[in-house]
Parts: sequence; structure tokens; C-alpha cells
Amino acid sequence: MDIYTFLILNGPNLGHLGQRQPEIYGHQDLSHLEGLIRGLPGTDPGKIELLFYQSNSEGKIIDRLEQAREEAVHGLVLNAGAYTHTSLAIADCLAWIQIPCVEVHLSNVWARDGKLRHQSLMAGHCLGVVAGFGILSYALAVQALIHHLRS
Ligand code: DQA
Repeated sequence: MDIYTFLILNGPNLGHLGQRQPEIYGHQDLSHLEGLIRGLPGTDPGKIELLFYQSNSEGKIIDRLEQAREEAVHGLVLNAGAYTHTSLAIADCLAWIQIPCVEVHLSNVWARDGKLRHQSLMAGHCLGVVAGFGILSYALAVQALIHHLRS
């Protein structure tokens, strides 16, 4: 069976998960998120290599995505935070690097106030979107990627 490499990439304001508006984003921090994903069935190191990255900077996110292409990463789980709704630059990057990507959100962005949050510039370049399940959204996204690559 092939070994896949997945990059779990978190954008701005997600570095302080657990402290930032826990009523919206939950009480668990990025280390819990990493532990949850590493503990998923099918993600043991012999089967999937997991890379984690967080940046508040649009340019650094693009640099990391381009690097992922050079590393031949097989799948992306992307929470671009507020850049989801605004960054044509990240969307342009997703369009050309052509790595299967699942967009994730901790909150259900469509159930929140503000029309801008209901729009995603990423989604059109992704296999799908998982939103509203807290850190479980990432686990579901990883499983969707595994299923996509194995089928
Ligand atoms: C978010 C939703 C975005 O609208 C927001 O800007 C974030 C987090 C989420 O995970 O729910 O920073 O991507």
C-alpha cells in the first residue's frame, strides 16, 4: 500500500486555538488537533506521514503550499481562516499546485453572521468542505482524503 504525505495547514489566528473565542472555536489547542489526527485509524506513520503548519501570513502560507508541491505532498487539509473569504492569492496558488485539498472550518461559517464569511475563494479548488464540527472537522477531512486517494 502506498504511503501518503498530508499537510494540515492552518492560517491566521488559528495558532491560539483554545484561547481564541472558545465559544466559537472550542477549548482544544493545536496540539490536541495534532493528537486527534495522529490517533486516527489509518494514519499510523507506516501509512501516512503527517505534516503540520500554521502561519498568520498570507505569503508564508503560499510559500508552504508551493513547498508542498515540491515535496510531492499527496493531500492538503486547509483552514485558511479569514483568508478563506478574501485571498485570491491563496486561491490562485491552490489552482496551480494541483494537490487534492479539503477545506475545513471549526465553525459552521454559513450559520454565522456576515455575508463575507459565507463566501469561500478556496472551495472551488478543493475536493470538498467540512465545517462546523470543531477539531473533528479536520479528522473528517483527513478521512475524506484517504478515501479519495485510495479509491
Ligand atoms: C474559521 C472561520 C473563518 O471565518 C474565520 O475567519 C477563522 C476560522 C473556522 O475555522 O471556523 O479564522 O476558518
